[in-house]
Amino acid sequence: MPEFSTETEQRSTGEARAGRSRGTDYSRRVFASVFDMLPNEDNPSPMVRINRLNPNANFQLFAKLEWLNPFGSVKDRAAWAMLRDLLERGEVGNGRGLVEPTSGNTGISLAAMAQAMGLRMRAVVPNKVPLEKKVLLKIVGAELDVLNDALCPAPGLGDGSINLAKTHAKASPHRYVMPNQYENPKNVEAHLHTTGPEIWRQTEGRVTHVFASLGTCGTVTGVSRFLRSKNPNIKVIAVQPSEGHDVPGLRNISQLDVSKLFDRSCIDEILEIDYELAYRRALDLCRAEGLIAGPSSGLILEGALRTVAQAGAGCGVMIFPDNIFKYVSSMIKHLPQLASETEA
Ligand SMILES: Cc1ncc(COP(=O)(O)O)c(C=O)c1O
Repeated sequence: MPEFSTETEQRSTGEARAGRSRGTDYSRRVFASVFDMLPNEDNPSPMVRINRLNPNANFQLFAKLEWLNPFGSVKDRAAWAMLRDLLERGEVGNGRGLVEPTSGNTGISLAAMAQAMGLRMRAVVPNKVPLEKKVLLKIVGAELDVLNDALCPAPGLGDGSINLAKTHAKASPHRYVMPNQYENPKNVEAHLHTTGPEIWRQTEGRVTHVFASLGTCGTVTGVSRFLRSKNPNIKVIAVQPSEGHDVPGLRNISQLDVSKLFDRSCIDEILEIDYELAYRRALDLCRAEGLIAGPSSGLILEGALRTVAQAGAGCGVMIFPDNIFKYVSSMIKHLPQLASETEA
């Protein structure tokens, strides 16, 4: 742990604005705790302009890189908001940890946070989740239940991931409490209080379009509510994979009525896009823009490019949920040529 002068400590925006740990200095990006790295208006995830792939010179298009959050995805925001609420209400501690159904990212964020606090975390995941995510959950210390469930855990299914997590919480209340990202309003509030304000400030209020995907719908609902409170004309566009998709974390339109946080009035347009394009556009992002984005980002890019090509002037922000490293096996499945020439 580095030593800090009193002067440095006084200058720290973390202490001044967020009441965070002594020793965190955002200007130097030196943090006293991994929790101080979590994003907020004073420490936003970066936005990078798309240059080579943008077909419209009058429309500025930005990617907001959520994989640069400390635990690697947009779900750091919802996980922290839910965990902080449980901590404040005294619902965790004294041997009681977390159990959560997840397609990977929320579980990874929750498990890493829980471990850093000495709490247990049990993740219930569908078998179809990529191996990389299941192994990552083990690496960050989660106990794991792997089920033959839909790829994105489906509320209400008798033997699905959500019901098994509920069963654990009910059967062992001294060991587990379930944050429940599919219903927990803190998931929406996380984006209302962080992602939305960050975008507003980073674009200096110039944002005209936001592009997001739909899983629990916490991101789109929270971001939309904040940005529309600033400017009701901002267009919120959701991008969804076609039916039968295997893009972890996302739901097809036909699965949306099961997401309690889905609010259709927050969205101007839902674009359904062939899910194969998620993988091809992820490759394009790496090769044309140097952005190591995952498949849900690839899908969002495709939706944004279709919109931007037909728009006049504007300023769009795409929320890119995570990076490609967790999807190497999925990329090889969809783009098998990637695996050729990888062996001696
Ligand atoms: C890779 C990925 N993309 C997109 C999403 C969707 O975000 P939200 O659940 O806020 O709708 C998720 C959610 O888990 C995800 O893991």
